[in-house]
Amino acid sequence: MSTTSPAPSASAAFPVFPPGFTFGTATASYQIEGAHDEDGRGPSIWDTFSHTPGRTLGGATGDVACDHYHRYPEDVELLRRLGVDSYRFSVAWPRIQPQGTGPVNEKGLDFYDRLTDSLLAAGVSPAVTLYHWDLPQALEDRGGWRVRETAEHFAEYTRAVVARLGDRVGRWITLNEPFCTAFVGYAEGRHAPGAREGTPALAAAHHLLLGHGYAVRALREAGAREIGITLNLDRIEAAGSAPADLAALRRAETLHNEVWTEPLFAGRYPVAEAETWGALADGSYRRDGDLDVIGAPLDFVGLNFYRPLTVADAPHAEADPGLRTATDIGVVETDPYGTRHTTMGWPVVPESFTDLLVALHERYPGLPPIHITENGSAEADTLSADGAVHDADRVSYLRDHLRALSAAIDAGVDVRGYYVWSLLDNFEWARGYDQRFGIVRVDYDTLERTPKDSYLWFRDLIAAHRAQEQEH
Ligand code: FCB
Repeated sequence: MSTTSPAPSASAAFPVFPPGFTFGTATASYQIEGAHDEDGRGPSIWDTFSHTPGRTLGGATGDVACDHYHRYPEDVELLRRLGVDSYRFSVAWPRIQPQGTGPVNEKGLDFYDRLTDSLLAAGVSPAVTLYHWDLPQALEDRGGWRVRETAEHFAEYTRAVVARLGDRVGRWITLNEPFCTAFVGYAEGRHAPGAREGTPALAAAHHLLLGHGYAVRALREAGAREIGITLNLDRIEAAGSAPADLAALRRAETLHNEVWTEPLFAGRYPVAEAETWGALADGSYRRDGDLDVIGAPLDFVGLNFYRPLTVADAPHAEADPGLRTATDIGVVETDPYGTRHTTMGWPVVPESFTDLLVALHERYPGLPPIHITENGSAEADTLSADGAVHDADRVSYLRDHLRALSAAIDAGVDVRGYYVWSLLDNFEWARGYDQRFGIVRVDYDTLERTPKDSYLWFRDLIAAHRAQEQEH
């Protein structure tokens, strides 16, 4: 593990950030931990999904992943050498409550206890995500996020985690990208649990928000200092100026953004929901008082950003309203971007990052400070003969997005931190191990870690930032 070599070019002009700005990297439990049946861990919906033939590319599973569960000391050492202020990881609910509710598995908590202590010893402050998609299978068997009880169980689980880690963890994230859980998981079916549903997916979105609100309450009661949620809000544009495309834009804004931002930051349900979903949005899953729970004040909002979206009007894919899924809103994504695309097929458009942040800031004046909790790119990395990974495309992606972020800060948006996705190459959900997002390469045969050029570049950016802080 050589992290002493000088960083590759591109370092010429590092973007500048305010003093006290946080730099970090992010990961998620199922994507890196492995040890799927160790120390009392119960099965999650991702174990079931990935072990179902045809669900993930090449049948990939998280059984071993990066084996972080056993190799975490090496990974913490990588973080120490990188010089990050913070590391965002997620806790696997089925390690803490194998059945999703009831008895707490102390051995599961012990793992995160050890990880937290090693991070602190390395000078890295932990940022904990409580839910990054690995719902205990036992809860899915009882309805999953379609049912209200899951939100209550989430609060119970939160209490168990904060009781153990709360004295040392400063930053808490309730949910990661509830859009993906509700809509990719329960409407598109590309993610666990692989369902294709209408109203139940909308109920899942609501119960996720409710679970978030209950968790915020539990964290506050336990004295947690910094509490937030991570959303993947999108910068969306209409493909054309025809009224039909503008209406499609409104529906897409509802599905991708306003389902989350309106209850969280405006105290109401999205105004265009009837236009977007018609009878699917029957509100049967809502109760009086829910908005108060959901809208509890937050200390920050986490944003994950990768690429922009452009949408056009399109006929509904499913004619029978009884079979319509919640993502069938009469909208099609188009790709007018004449730019480079990453191996995920995502266009690289850094200015859209600035635009998203500025628009959000203008739309919700009372928005809490923002942390960028994920940003990064999947690239076709190769291990060179010199033993290094010269991932120039990733370095450019990170540099250009950090510049776009710095421009948003200059325009008055209150952004306090930035976490690269991801520290390690890892299990990219349904895309398996083909997509490499890490700034550290993982050889899946030997599990050897190799810092890429982007790791060295990010290390130097952080060092330059520190030097500049000292001058002030
Ligand atoms: C986000 C997820 C994260 C990772 C990146 C590429 O949607 O939060 O786990 O898969 O995308």
